[in-house]
Amino acid sequence: MIKMTTKPISKPKLDEVYGFAIQLGKDAGKLLLDAAQARIGGNDSSGQDFCEKDSAVDIVTKTDEAVETFIRRRITQTHPTHAFVGEESYSKGSSRAYLIDDATPTWCVDPLDGTVNYTHLFPMFCVSIAFVVGGKPVIGVICGPFLNQLSTACRGRGAWLNETLPLPLARNPIPPMPPNAPSRCIFSCEWGKDRKDTPGGNLHRKVDSFLNMAAEIGGRGGKGSMVHGVRSLGSATMDLAYTAMGAFDIWEGGCWEWDVAAGIAILQEAGGLITTANPPEDPPSARIEDAKLGSRLYLAVW
Ligand code: IPD
Ligand code: CA
Repeated sequence: MIKMTTKPISKPKLDEVYGFAIQLGKDAGKLLLDAAQARIGGNDSSGQDFCEKDSAVDIVTKTDEAVETFIRRRITQTHPTHAFVGEESYSKGSSRAYLIDDATPTWCVDPLDGTVNYTHLFPMFCVSIAFVVGGKPVIGVICGPFLNQLSTACRGRGAWLNETLPLPLARNPIPPMPPNAPSRCIFSCEWGKDRKDTPGGNLHRKVDSFLNMAAEIGGRGGKGSMVHGVRSLGSATMDLAYTAMGAFDIWEGGCWEWDVAAGIAILQEAGGLITTANPPEDPPSARIEDAKLGSRLYLAVW
């Protein structure tokens, strides 16, 4: 079988695509903000109308759809040779295969990450736009418009908050990790959408993980880590943006590629690491590989 490889993208071309992606993130973020603001004061209830997808906590609003259509149209008009993978278009398709191939530069987009937050007007929602080349996210743009936070990165050009502040903003604890890490770290993990109350299932394993992280040192049969804090923002994309900022130290999540692609580009460019959350067979000798986009289980550390 002949393995197709992507033609490298020249530096000026990548600069141009980066500028396009930033503007697209700002414009899409403005659409999200306008839609959220239209509901403040109760004048417009359309943002609260949602349909359930796979379960009662997996929802989609008209805003998710409208913003994805807007982003997709702009990309198709400006970069007709690039492929597009977006959460809402993907959801409507019948395949659940990984669709990003190494040979085609691909945009990987979540038009609204944190849809539940958006419907409740909890500010942790955002648009997430990644440009993936050779299977790796090389540009990431995350715009959280309610918070006025724009995180951006492009391979070799650093990672930025609101285009002026280099990421990470600060480190606490200051690297290297303290010997008793993850104590003194902030750990972030989402509750996710699998709510089956099955012992040993996803929900129970997450609760175990929260308890292990939070419990006093020596608690939980020696697993207690007594981290500084455990956070669940309701947006995996925002979790990664905050990890890149240095506000979170560890994030663990089981996600689709559009939830993490932009965050991976930003975190890596900020100096952080993202790998698989599947534990290695022999931790002391294991080589820490970069996460493979599409692998669905991620562990990020800064
Ligand atoms: C979800 C959020 C949530 C995470 C889920 C995602 P959505 O995205 O990021 O925090 O736990 O795995 O699917 O549905 O709001 O775009
Ligand atoms: Ca979404």
